[in-house]
Amino acid sequence: MSRWQELTGGTSGGEYAARFEALARGGKDVHGEAAFCSALVPAGARVLDAGCGTGRVMIRLAELGYDCVGIDLDASMLDVARAQAPQLPWFETDLADFDPARLGVAAGFDLVVAAGNVLPLLTPGTEATVVARLAAVLVPGGLLVAGFGLDAAHLPVPPTITLPEYDAHCAAAGLTLVDRFATWDAVPYDGGGYAVSVHRAAP
Ligand SMILES: C[S@@+](CC[C@H](N)C(=O)[O-])C[C@H]1O[C@@H](n2cnc3c(N)ncnc32)[C@H](O)[C@@H]1O
Repeated sequence: MSRWQELTGGTSGGEYAARFEALARGGKDVHGEAAFCSALVPAGARVLDAGCGTGRVMIRLAELGYDCVGIDLDASMLDVARAQAPQLPWFETDLADFDPARLGVAAGFDLVVAAGNVLPLLTPGTEATVVARLAAVLVPGGLLVAGFGLDAAHLPVPPTITLPEYDAHCAAAGLTLVDRFATWDAVPYDGGGYAVSVHRAAP
């Protein structure tokens, strides 16, 4: 069972969406992840939202002109995504088993984004497998973008995956670190408790 399922019981879609709606109403920019991705690949590029949840990031990317696919394990999160954007492709799948062919989806994504602590919320022990699955669906030179907390202040669960571990999983999957930031608005990483990492597949 994923740490997210353990934490939420698989019923948190409505509450999660409401939390972000309240933040947006309060004037907070809730589209930082989509803006960050849109600076890396041009509109029209194929983007996989890995652990898409309620579709918060992917719906914005689709509005910006990206060709998106969303996958998640939590039906309550996907219910919200489907209600908000029924025209977009959403799939209920475990990232550890992700095989686009089985879903009838073409591989060859220009960018894979895992936003919102997806990596630390996976099923324990599956992190390397998930990174390998995501790397396998990138085009040559494609990008894996992941933002996640590293300490208790930035996570809803006890800290799990470290940056050296994540980088090692990426290296084993043939990905090279190209950039690391402290925030989605590209503040340079300074060793703090949250990191946004960009890894690239071999050309
Ligand atoms: C905190 S939510 C983030 C959702 C979305 N990316 C966002 O930024 O709003 C973490 C998501 O990771 C998903 N997740 C965790 N483990 C997963 C797995 N093994 N396969 C697919 N999704 C998973 C959860 O179901 C949950 O929707």
